[in-house]
Amino acid sequence: MKVNSADIVISAVSSKQYPSDSIPEIALAGRSNVGKSSFINKMINRKNLVRTSSKPGKTRTLNFYIINDAFHFVDVPGYGYAKVSKTEQAKWGQMMEEYFQTREQLKLVVLIVDIRHKPTEEDVQMFNFASYLEHPVLIVATKLDKIAKNKRDQHIRQVRNAFITEYNDQPNVMPFSAETAENKEEIWAVMEKYLK
Ligand code: GTP
Ligand code: MG
Repeated sequence: MKVNSADIVISAVSSKQYPSDSIPEIALAGRSNVGKSSFINKMINRKNLVRTSSKPGKTRTLNFYIINDAFHFVDVPGYGYAKVSKTEQAKWGQMMEEYFQTREQLKLVVLIVDIRHKPTEEDVQMFNFASYLEHPVLIVATKLDKIAKNKRDQHIRQVRNAFITEYNDQPNVMPFSAETAENKEEIWAVMEKYLK
């Protein structure tokens, strides 16, 4: 995929603010600080269009980016950050439900997990929630640069196994690194299929 243009459209907290055009959309989901924003930056070759941080909880709103005037990436706030108040958690839940339940333009959810660790219960809940709403999910296991090459298969298997449920016995897992861009084109190829 050749990315010619990429810009922020809006930071939204409710559906009234979503872009009203009908172009297709890919949403990122995953734990706080896992690398969702870094994933978008790497995929579109922009160092800092999407704000990233070593501190969790950076992304608080649904941030819509327009790519090549053809589709949106939606950067979604992460879950699982312990220091978030109950009120904020409730707000997060409402914002996520409204988006995932109503957004017809949503063609694919890219669920980002850390390849080093076993996916959490919340990761599996997110996967099941999106699957229940019949959104296709691509699981991207990021930070591939942080594990030894001879441990790769073992870690990919650990991730895949965590997402196998009675509803889905073939979760699609692809490894990735926002440091090295490994597998970038392969992931674009999958995403492009859903954007057609
Ligand atoms: P929130 O917005 O807080 O939910 O976080 P996020 O999921 O958007 O994470 P973000 O992209 O801000 O990245 C968090 C940290 O992980 C940053 O310090 C990134 O540099 C680092 N990081 C992200 N992806 C990779 C990767 O593939 N490899 C390595 N080594 N570091 C990464
Ligand atoms: Mg972020």
